[in-house]
Amino acid sequence: MSRSSSFHQPAGTLKSLNEARQLLDDARRDLTENRERAQLRPSHTFSPIPGFFPRTAELQAVERALEEEPCFTVLFGASSVGKTALLRQVLCSDKYHVLHFDLRIAGFADLDSLYMSLSQQMEQYFATIAKIEGYGEFEKEAWGFKHDRLNVERRIADNTGMAQIRTSDIARLMELFQSSLLTYRQFVPPSPNSQSSSTASRDSISSQANQSKPKRFRWPWQSKSPSDRARKPNANGSPQDRAQSAEKDVPKPVKKMPVFFIDEAHKLPGLIQSMETMKCLLDSMLVLTKQDRLCHVIHATSDPFYQTWLRQLNVMQHCKIITIGDCSKSDARTFYHERILPRVPERLRHSLSFERLYEAFGGRLVHWQDYITDYVNANGQLESEHLVK
Ligand SMILES: Nc1ncnc2c1ncn2[C@@H]1O[C@H](COP(=O)(O)OP(=O)(O)O)[C@@H](O)[C@H]1O
Ligand SMILES: [Mg+2]
Repeated sequence: MSRSSSFHQPAGTLKSLNEARQLLDDARRDLTENRERAQLRPSHTFSPIPGFFPRTAELQAVERALEEEPCFTVLFGASSVGKTALLRQVLCSDKYHVLHFDLRIAGFADLDSLYMSLSQQMEQYFATIAKIEGYGEFEKEAWGFKHDRLNVERRIADNTGMAQIRTSDIARLMELFQSSLLTYRQFVPPSPNSQSSSTASRDSISSQANQSKPKRFRWPWQSKSPSDRARKPNANGSPQDRAQSAEKDVPKPVKKMPVFFIDEAHKLPGLIQSMETMKCLLDSMLVLTKQDRLCHVIHATSDPFYQTWLRQLNVMQHCKIITIGDCSKSDARTFYHERILPRVPERLRHSLSFERLYEAFGGRLVHWQDYITDYVNANGQLESEHLVK
């Protein structure tokens, strides 16, 4: 019977065959993806830039903002002033889990690529958490992002009607992220000596998580008193300071503060043509920060119009602004003696003068670095117009 009916409905048979093939392809792709993911390095930290020169005041401003309640911060400063360098330095700390989007890179061409990257990074974020002992069940949160993405990819491949990423896709993705972060924040891992078998400990994880009272959660390092905070050494702190604080910090909190960092954020309006989608993304970032205090959001930008634009969307009023300028003269002098002069062979040093160079480059470290590279390469034979440049 069924055979004859399939002959009578060749289109239906073809359709179910295609669906079966699609399922097989999906399963194969899942397998490959899982294999690839197992080989990925954890991406929650990035490296500080080599030879970072610690700018005490700026480091403190950024660190202090991150120690406070999760908020939406706009880090503003002229191009090449050192915003990215500063954030890389601070965010590479063990305290943070970073989702990093550098909108300058070619991978971000449009809303579709932004959605894919957001979804992949969120998936990988929870997959990384799942690798921590006792946090295995976060693998499920990671799958949530993957399946949402696969559904979207399937819809786009089917090419029926609305083939592209829509506002609702962004809204759903950000809601998934919000709910996974809530689970992460409320999660109480089993104490290491409570259970030994992994299945038993998983059961205890969920029961503990369920039993945990909905009290106001503070991320581990937020519970410090203001006096503790005042004592906290900065990146310049003496080795003893650091050793003491390392001692105090043992055992280290496993939970890390999530930080959603968008570099060159002024490119967002170009990527997201629809005002509605843009508003949806920004509003959900406000929900993550101001409303739910689930993670920090940092937008770094050198474009003053971006601030105006955020204000027009009623977002700027809820943001903290940190402005980064050039280094002070005394910082520039230290930089010159500690970082610049050692790069110059002794025989070429006599014709360099801090004051003259400062007149030309002020406190923009990258100009000092570029000049000195040229100077050394030219064996000290640079024309003076280099300084004017
Ligand atoms: N604190 C610093 N220490 C050493 N080099 C720095 C520092 N800040 C900036 N630089 C140099 O300046 C360059 C530009 O800095 P970057 O952080 O990319 O600027 P921005 O993000 O503000 O455009 C860096 O690649 C680096 O060479
Ligand atoms: Mg930058």
